[in-house]
Amino acid sequence: MHPFVTRRQVLLGGGLALLGAQRAALALESDDSGLARIARTNGLFYGAAVNSAPLTASDFSKAVIRDADVIVPEWEMKWGAIEKVRGDRQYGTSQRIVHFAKAHGLSVRGHALVWHRNIPAWAVEALNNKEYAVMQRHVRSMVANFGAVRDWDVVNEAIEPTHDRSDNLRRSPFLTALGPDYIGEAFRSARAESPGARLVYNDFGFEYEIDTHRARRRALIRLLERLKTTSVPIDAVGLQAHLVTRGLKFDPAAYAAFLKEIADLDLKIIITELDIQDTDLPASIGERDRILADETGRYLDAVLAQPAVIGVVTWGLSDRHTWLNSDPKAKRPDGLPSRPLPLDDRMERKPMWSAIANAFRNAPERS
Ligand code: G3I
Repeated sequence: MHPFVTRRQVLLGGGLALLGAQRAALALESDDSGLARIARTNGLFYGAAVNSAPLTASDFSKAVIRDADVIVPEWEMKWGAIEKVRGDRQYGTSQRIVHFAKAHGLSVRGHALVWHRNIPAWAVEALNNKEYAVMQRHVRSMVANFGAVRDWDVVNEAIEPTHDRSDNLRRSPFLTALGPDYIGEAFRSARAESPGARLVYNDFGFEYEIDTHRARRRALIRLLERLKTTSVPIDAVGLQAHLVTRGLKFDPAAYAAFLKEIADLDLKIIITELDIQDTDLPASIGERDRILADETGRYLDAVLAQPAVIGVVTWGLSDRHTWLNSDPKAKRPDGLPSRPLPLDDRMERKPMWSAIANAFRNAPERS
């Protein structure tokens, strides 16, 4: 035994080498075991956000069919995309996504019915003119038109503790026009139109040990308690999980406690928009991908330990289409393209893909 190397170091060295080898092996997994198939072995689902135009590219459509069993319109089911002109509801492009799903045995998550962004200008005006019914009409028209959609983000991003309201709600045209009960009204409208669909409240900013995220965790739990005690028909919570690598602390125990609070309200949980920003990471692709995979794996290991978590959706599948490379606020300062998703821009699997596959494999089986 080398005098400077303890038994523990040998084991550790061996262990790490093995881990590296396992990861490498995972990356070379046979083609047909996509992420969705691996997730299903433990009763979970995997999905990705898509836009209709990229689905016409064969390499991307093949990758979606291989890896996902759920797809989510990233933009085309939003009110601003559907009804730019009042009364002229355009379902064309979002319907293409639904048809693609149907053709390939995938299911669709609807996103998002009531959101403070992408509200058509005429609807903002109508809400300001106290035309209360425009929101309910939109919710019912969407749910009725997309009968095949069995899972809806009914209300998106309605909490904002920095808006200084005692109920921590975000100030929006919906809140101004309809008051806090607009949230309940949206869920009741969706339930009335589709009694069997899963109705979800979706939001962001809960992952890290910073004051804003702690305040948002508390605000979310308070909102969910209010909705449950007033019998609002909510079935699940969507946690967007737009992760970052800015050295913010992720505490698996604190996050597990937060997830348990949601589960104790008899609500399911979906990770709805997972991606991971690499703006603060070095340019080296190898180093970036390794750190992004480790962070993603650590997050999902903590999340999937909670049995109320039923599935994971990444906000895109390939770096080729990520919003993070088109959003001026999210771009890398060095101008290099971000790498926040499981597949690279040539649809090749990245270490992040293996980290997600691993987390699904290690997850407790859902009954
Ligand atoms: O495709 C149209 C194009 O036809 C039109 O000419 C152009 C000019 O308006 O807009 C293009 O649409 C853009 C669309 O993305 C498709 O790329 C919209 O401008 C742009 O606003 C839209 O951005 C989306 C954003 O939400 C706003 O809806 C992003 O792709 C999408 O990733 C982002 O997703 C949000 C979630 O819904 C909620 N959580 C946060 C997440 C990231 O911001």
